[in-house]
Amino acid sequence: MSVLDLFNLTGQVAIVTGGARGLGRQMALALVEAGADVAICDLLEEEGRRTATELAVLGRRTLFGRVDVTRADEIEAFIGQVAERLGKIDILVNNAGMSSDGLALQEEPDDAWRRMLDTNLSSMFYVGKRVAQHMIERGAGGVIINMASINSLVISNIAPRHNVPYCVAKAGVAQLTRGMAADWAPYGVRVNAIAPGAMLTAQTAASRKYPEIMERIITNTPMKRYGEEEEIKGLVVYLASPASSFVTGSLVVMDGGTTIW
Ligand SMILES: NC(=O)c1ccc[n+]([C@@H]2O[C@H](COP(=O)([O-])OP(=O)(O)OC[C@H]3O[C@@H](n4cnc5c(N)ncnc54)[C@H](O)[C@@H]3O)[C@@H](O)[C@H]2O)c1
Repeated sequence: MSVLDLFNLTGQVAIVTGGARGLGRQMALALVEAGADVAICDLLEEEGRRTATELAVLGRRTLFGRVDVTRADEIEAFIGQVAERLGKIDILVNNAGMSSDGLALQEEPDDAWRRMLDTNLSSMFYVGKRVAQHMIERGAGGVIINMASINSLVISNIAPRHNVPYCVAKAGVAQLTRGMAADWAPYGVRVNAIAPGAMLTAQTAASRKYPEIMERIITNTPMKRYGEEEEIKGLVVYLASPASSFVTGSLVVMDGGTTIW
């Protein structure tokens, strides 16, 4: 067997949350290209359907569900639909997330804080728990990948936008990942997190309007650039596949070196 066979996902079924666009869309494409059937969900119906069509053209089974990942009823209906139509769930990528409003903490409304924690952290528990229950019941193991950030490790250094609620939620994602890995290792479920630095997606579009913020990020990054969306594809396939069979509870940083300094 060639080492490349370890990255083959033929016969696997994956869910990618927030899969309509950006990093989620790229990860869905990568999993399909590696051989998996992929279901995506998102709040964005039009973009979600367009991405699902793009996946189907590659020759794998796919489906799109309009799901709010903070709503238990919608998550349960979607998981049920995926299990019924695609037969099972082997891989979950908990990717859906939002950026913060950039307010200093003393200005941050309680509601915005709650929404951030619910969307970027608790949703990964709501979806992850339910998918893990399915995996444990099936008894065939599985893989969960949570989308963290370099802000799981450090507070955003683009003053005055320190984005503390976002950083706190992403720090929670790192610890949730370790906790899920500990609780579910006995069932053959591996759980890891990806921690990207600044990537060229819609999420960073607002801050990229300010040349001084872009310049700050590029200066802080040894590779002197933002990451391209596609650069997440190799890492997600590595973590989703037997190529990473002894890796669990890890936070894998991909940031062009931003957190070296
Ligand atoms: N872009 C970056 O620089 C960067 C860096 C580190 C981490 N991340 C993380 O990567 C993930 C993807 O971000 P992106 O850059 O592709 O941004 P994006 O805004 O393009 O994609 C996020 C997707 O999640 C969806 N979403 C948001 N809230 C949702 C909800 N409640 N229910 C269902 N779907 C919801 C959005 O509609 C969108 O399609 C996020 O978790 C983000 O925090 C991004």
